[in-house]
Amino acid sequence: MDRHDVLAVSEVARRSGFAASALRYYEDQGLIEAHRSAGGQRRYERSVLRRLAFIRAAVNIGLSLQEIREELDTLPRSRTPNKADWQRISRHWRTRLDDRIAALERLRDGLDSCIGCGCLSLQRCAFSNPSDIAGTASPSPGAAYLPAVLR
Ligand code: FES
Repeated sequence: MDRHDVLAVSEVARRSGFAASALRYYEDQGLIEAHRSAGGQRRYERSVLRRLAFIRAAVNIGLSLQEIREELDTLPRSRTPNKADWQRISRHWRTRLDDRIAALERLRDGLDSCIGCGCLSLQRCAFSNPSDIAGTASPSPGAAYLPAVLR
């Protein structure tokens, strides 16, 4: 690989807006890859910038690290992701955003009935216990009273 095709961590941090510590963390989590120079320093292929742009967008959408990893695993590692790759994934994200918006609208509608009440009852308040989800076992970690799509 030509030395002009690789970027040092400082360059990737400057161009992506991520701190060097975040780059190390994402590498530890398997979201991005780095090679080591002869001196042991991290070197990144230029395509890492697109993967980082993807990660930033996914975080803004609200995807978990596990979800981001699963999405990234569908992308080719041997080339820079292309327009078709991004279009396919963004369609998936739209569905996820629609689900989140719908869940937030349900919470908002429940809040309307709470205005002026103030009880925050875990038994009957639609906002603190939407759809009585607190009454069912929650297999996933996180806030048990939030709809799963918002956790
Ligand atoms: S605060 Fe009383 S029902 Fe929500």
